[in-house]
Amino acid sequence: MQTNKALIVEPIGLDVETLPRPLDFAVLFGNDHPVELEIGMGKGTFLTQQCKLHPEINYFGVEYARWFWRYASDRLRRNHCDNARTVRAEAMYFVREFIADASLSVLHIYHPDPWPKKRHHKRRLMQQPFLDQIQRILKPGGLLRVVTDHKEYFEQIDALIKASPLKVVDYTPPASANEGELIGTNFERKYILEGRERYAIAAVKGS
Ligand SMILES: C[S@@+](CC[C@H](N)C(=O)[O-])C[C@H]1O[C@@H](n2cnc3c(N)ncnc32)[C@H](O)[C@@H]1O
Repeated sequence: MQTNKALIVEPIGLDVETLPRPLDFAVLFGNDHPVELEIGMGKGTFLTQQCKLHPEINYFGVEYARWFWRYASDRLRRNHCDNARTVRAEAMYFVREFIADASLSVLHIYHPDPWPKKRHHKRRLMQQPFLDQIQRILKPGGLLRVVTDHKEYFEQIDALIKASPLKVVDYTPPASANEGELIGTNFERKYILEGRERYAIAAVKGS
């Protein structure tokens, strides 16, 4: 594991304390390309692959574990992903405080922490208050994509989405996914080796 010091965060990683509320993505990226947000990007595998495949899209990553945020930001920098920015922040706080209404074309949530113990379920991100935020920040026609290996958490997410104004659509793997993958993240690759099931759902916000 590289030490925190060996990882170079700038210019991809931003200091959340210095950002305006709400963020103006056109100012931040210097263009008006569509913006996709990934929550809990881990080592940044998905973001790095997608940034390289889609220079016409801006990607923003949120991650609250310091080392993972630093690692992903450094990796995006090394891969010349000028269309990426990241912050180290808790997702609900960041979305609520910094993301403007109807500003995202896609929201990616891959293998969110499932908090399997019943007494920890209240820590799960995908609950009604976060779904209300998702409904607020997606553009009309914007897409939510969620993948998890945790069946019971998936059932909760599935029920929440189906009870919301979002409309469920077919889930299609991104261009960066390999054969048999739903996304192609580190956790997915680990879970495929372990033979775990994966569950996916996609839904759009009506116009
Ligand atoms: C199970 S890992 C999945 C990482 C990556 N998406 C993947 O599929 O390989 C979950 C990641 O989300 C981050 N995370 C969990 N809850 C978060 C939250 N509320 N805000 C920001 N990041 C969060 C964790 O630190 C961790 O890096």
